[in-house]
Amino acid sequence: MSRQSVRRFSELATVWTGKVAQRPRLIVAALAVSMMATMALPVSGAVVDEKVIDDLLARMTVTEKLGQLQQLGGNVATGGLLDGQEGLIRRGQVGSFLNVRGAKSSNEVQKLALESSPSKIPLLFGFDVIHGYRTIFPVPLGMASSWDPKAVERASSIAAREASAAGVRWVFSPMVDIARDPRWGRIVEGAGEDPYLGAKLATAQVQGYQGADFGAPGRVAACVKHWVAYGAAEGGRDYNHAEVSNRTLREVYFPPFRAALDAGVGTFMTALNDLNGIPATVNPFTLGQVLRREWRFDGVVLSDYQAVEQLIEHGVAANGADAARMALEAGLDVEMESTLFRVHGERLLRDRKVSRARLDEAVRRVLQLKARLGLFENPYVDEAVEQSVILSKENRDAAREVAGRSLVLLRNEGNVLPLGSNVRSIAVIGPMADDPQIPLGPWFADGRKEDTVSLLAGIRAKAAGRPGAPKVGYAKGCEAEGGTKDGFEEAVRLARESDVVILAVGETADRSGEATSLTSLDLPGHQLDLIKAVHATGKPTVVVLINGRPLTIGWVAEHVPAILEAWFPGTEAGHAIADALFGDINPGGKLPVTFPRSVGQIPLYYNHDNTGRPPSDFKYTSKYMDIPNGPLFPFGFGLSYTQFKLKNLKLSKREIPPEGRLIASVEVENVGKRAGDEVVQLYIRDEVASASRPVKALRGFERVTLAPGESKTVRFAIGPEDLGFYTCDPRFIVHDMQFVVEPGRFKVIVGTSSKDGLVATFDVTGL
Ligand code: NOJ
Repeated sequence: MSRQSVRRFSELATVWTGKVAQRPRLIVAALAVSMMATMALPVSGAVVDEKVIDDLLARMTVTEKLGQLQQLGGNVATGGLLDGQEGLIRRGQVGSFLNVRGAKSSNEVQKLALESSPSKIPLLFGFDVIHGYRTIFPVPLGMASSWDPKAVERASSIAAREASAAGVRWVFSPMVDIARDPRWGRIVEGAGEDPYLGAKLATAQVQGYQGADFGAPGRVAACVKHWVAYGAAEGGRDYNHAEVSNRTLREVYFPPFRAALDAGVGTFMTALNDLNGIPATVNPFTLGQVLRREWRFDGVVLSDYQAVEQLIEHGVAANGADAARMALEAGLDVEMESTLFRVHGERLLRDRKVSRARLDEAVRRVLQLKARLGLFENPYVDEAVEQSVILSKENRDAAREVAGRSLVLLRNEGNVLPLGSNVRSIAVIGPMADDPQIPLGPWFADGRKEDTVSLLAGIRAKAAGRPGAPKVGYAKGCEAEGGTKDGFEEAVRLARESDVVILAVGETADRSGEATSLTSLDLPGHQLDLIKAVHATGKPTVVVLINGRPLTIGWVAEHVPAILEAWFPGTEAGHAIADALFGDINPGGKLPVTFPRSVGQIPLYYNHDNTGRPPSDFKYTSKYMDIPNGPLFPFGFGLSYTQFKLKNLKLSKREIPPEGRLIASVEVENVGKRAGDEVVQLYIRDEVASASRPVKALRGFERVTLAPGESKTVRFAIGPEDLGFYTCDPRFIVHDMQFVVEPGRFKVIVGTSSKDGLVATFDVTGL
């Protein structure tokens, strides 16, 4: 924040001076923190001529207006229309499509709307471009492991360029749901468990997709989803009820959405779940109070797939008409896939159950979005541009680089990695090694397995170019799930004949993503037994994990000397992993999620509150009897082929007022023998507050690259936004939360994971 905005920020502060009975400390400043409650940024995009929209609105029939609020799914396989959709377009009864894509196909469909529909309003084509369009980047959880917002922004901008060249101007991304439960398969689509990292990466994605103006060539409107607390589904079961306190919503689940809004995100998508009893699609608190009124978001809010109709199954709407009324009344603008606005809208208006003003407001937002995208002037795309942009060498190179930055080295005992020049033969084993579909992960948009480099192909290509061209053998060993152990013998024989084993295990892509909740996070099928059989040969073994969620890999972590977490790395998977295995790059990613020891520990996340009885040897403390509380691998963890040392943590001030700022600086040195990356992480703990605070919370990070012996000073600015939290005025029983910075001692912890680090303290003084 600039100096000027700090001043404005403190002018907004409400100062509480009253003493609060029976509280150990006083709250002296309640700061309506900046952006949180006061300013809403306009969505990005060109300035819209409202007169054009007024004229259109004046001319459109109610049928056409309702049509603009209708989004339908086209044919996902062909990118064209489904039966019956042509007639709807001709009658102006559809405003946007999902899955219609490809320059030729989207132009044909657009032509229908522009030449045959009553008001000739261009259609808008949206698609689930989650981690690339045709050139597929690592899944979002993988990209989050890079801890590199610039890399994420670059990936998103390439995805935007490819998608827009194919006629897709609206991407249903970023998915910014915080996920503290790896049983939930959609953990793969977000940035993991932390709101700060999540917010930084949400910003990066929105900027990558939209740039400064989503109407510019090569840009698309982003859609941040799923508003909100979808990741808090009970039991990790997809679409399930979520019960989340107001404070946790504001501190954990909202921040990445707010960051997307501040970055100018064009649209929001509501979540499928209910939140504290009310479906997110019609939730008056999240949609009405927070999004529309506090944050003043005036762009399009879209439902998730058939979510309006599902209000009936949720048990809050008696029938279709009721569901449509509730959704419109709640402030939803576009209905995805179900058709209740279209079917019941006219009647609801006639019966005055929905006002014309509300209808016009929703239609205006859709037209504004189309206008900002420049669709009225440029409704078609150029097929030649599509050819040159899609899957270009430049895009593939970027995918390889980003995949490389997303790799996390979890173990490397005895420096098995990188493979040395003494390695003459390599056994590549495992069900993930030779399958070109799996590395694309879920939501692979228009990605194709024919374009994808499998791990085996990547290793073969790399080995062929090495001095002495080491021999590469392959044995699958077993299926990813089910099947038999018949392939073990061949795998073991190959391992025995080779100098080193690369063992690729994990999850298939369809075991990850939407509707893939699990109760076990163990490696599926016979994969662990395969690892044990190969490990028993005594050959140096490297496990490469291809997966979309933390797995319970205790045995592997204890016995296998080297483990590389690759997630689903995308089109360039094999090349990127081989780059790391052979030491052409040095893995520098860090986990954006905690790896539990056992599924029974879930939810397990680093930024939990303390209890009154933190674990100790004493029996009556908060712990499990059968396993330690701690994770298998903590949030923020990741090794390198070199070693780093942190030293000289300094704070620029020992005391600040509640609205004050200070700088923490630390030196990081590469004390090993190779160049490499370290992610320096800053965590804060509020030691005593009026509410129990997290044991630590990430508030800054920087990924640095250092040559051997090189060191760098990393600086983190700390301000009220890092120190405050949401609380109620304890003098009143009200649930209106205020963002407050309370005086007292704060601990700064700077480390290379969430586990430990250098510590310093400072005080926030009273006013
Ligand atoms: C349902 C998913 O929840 C959402 O993320 C996606 O964008 C829509 N389907 C459209 O495919």
